[in-house]
Amino acid sequence: EATAVFTNLPLLDFSLDNERSAFQSALTEVRATLPRRYALAQPVGCNSARNPAHPDDVLGTVDLAGPEHASVAVAAANAAFPSWRDTPVAKRVRLLRHAAELMVAERRALAALEVLEAAKPWREADADVAEAVDFLRYYATQMEQLSGWHETVRFPGEDNRIVYVPRGVAVVIAPWNFPLAILAGMTAAALVAGNCVVMKPALPGLLIAHAFLDLLHRAGLPADVCRLLPGDEAVGAALVADARVHVIAFTGSRRVGLQILQSAHTPAPGQRHVKQVVCEMGGKNAIVVDEDADLDDAVTGILESAFGYSGQKCSACSRLITVGQVHDRLLARLVEAAATLPWGPPEQAEFTHGPLINEAAQKKALDYIEIGKDEGRLVWQGTVPVQGWYAPPTIFAGIRPQHRLACEEIFGPLLAVMRAPDFETAITMAMDSDYALTGGVYSRLPAHLQMAQESFHVGNLYLNRKITGARVGVHPFGGIKLSGTGVQAGGADYLKQFLWSRSMSRNT
Ligand code: SER
Repeated sequence: EATAVFTNLPLLDFSLDNERSAFQSALTEVRATLPRRYALAQPVGCNSARNPAHPDDVLGTVDLAGPEHASVAVAAANAAFPSWRDTPVAKRVRLLRHAAELMVAERRALAALEVLEAAKPWREADADVAEAVDFLRYYATQMEQLSGWHETVRFPGEDNRIVYVPRGVAVVIAPWNFPLAILAGMTAAALVAGNCVVMKPALPGLLIAHAFLDLLHRAGLPADVCRLLPGDEAVGAALVADARVHVIAFTGSRRVGLQILQSAHTPAPGQRHVKQVVCEMGGKNAIVVDEDADLDDAVTGILESAFGYSGQKCSACSRLITVGQVHDRLLARLVEAAATLPWGPPEQAEFTHGPLINEAAQKKALDYIEIGKDEGRLVWQGTVPVQGWYAPPTIFAGIRPQHRLACEEIFGPLLAVMRAPDFETAITMAMDSDYALTGGVYSRLPAHLQMAQESFHVGNLYLNRKITGARVGVHPFGGIKLSGTGVQAGGADYLKQFLWSRSMSRNT
């Protein structure tokens, strides 16, 4: 096991009859466990988990903590830290791998819960669970490589080495859109590195977060080494401000991310360390389609990137930039293909596209559709069910760089199409954003692909493929500029953010 090589967990193949019926059974079995109830001592409120496709369908209720609970959770994690820090790396790694095994064994039930609670279509729910498994295994393997004393550059008369040591209490603030993968990824990195964790997941997705916590404990993780504190932004803010916290791992909006950076870097009374902040903060991602691009490929990739999980991915394509004369041909093909995508309750296998996460998300998307009608020209809009938190998929043309549709992250199924006279201008337009998370280019010209590789500066650049669905280890994921602090998740450098390095020099 010490030489374990990381490989991605294969996804389920829902084109197979037996796989479809196994997943259908998992949905039925999970339904039978609902509604779930998670209680807390002296809660300040209660959150109902609702099925976004059928908002009257309450899947469970979770008590919420207030800011005053934050201190108690951090104190418990802090008290558990010395023994977790001193737990041998091999044991921490074994425990994470055991959790990954349990997750694989229960992958259908976990994915089924995501279908119901997060309105993930089957394929996307399965991919999220597989990614969570990948994160556990990848960071376990990375930690094995980092553990122990490493020799540095040789120097006569000295023995010089470095070692990576845990930092302390880590706060993990996770979003709802990859309710298992992102929560598990940040948490696994912190834990395997020897930190204790307080998880503060987003309110949608709390049932999944509880399922993850339960799984970690069944894998043998001591209770206080990882705790769950369900609450709103004020709870997150209290955790971030606590003087005993050493690491904050956050994925979410730019607004909250920037607040976290500011708060974390203002030392609290009694704080004797600098907090480390790992921040992922969204995108306004563009795909550039060159004049000579293969339009079959481009249309498939654009639609998956723009409308997959109804556009609720920080990696999603929300700007499409067409080069020269390709605009009309591409739009005609895009509209024709978009019209074939089925939108409906994700519980049913045939619906590959579902509602938005909640009413606020729906309202936001609908508001932006109105803004888009003022700013550009509505070229296509799909139809969606009336019941449920849906927003119709919508394509606008005639959008210009200064328009709100070209600048603001919407997190819904809206695509803003812009025209560029030539390839170079298209790349300049693509980079004209506060964000720089993902980006894509469809072209058959090697010189243009090369130009994009050199000068399209985003965290994740994808050439002639979709711009979502980064795989752990394969596509280290994370943005630059105002998209994040820059060290990519599922990449070789990520884990070091959860560790201090110490160096030792002995005169020999
Ligand atoms: N990692 C996801 C993707 O690549 C987004 O968080 O789509």
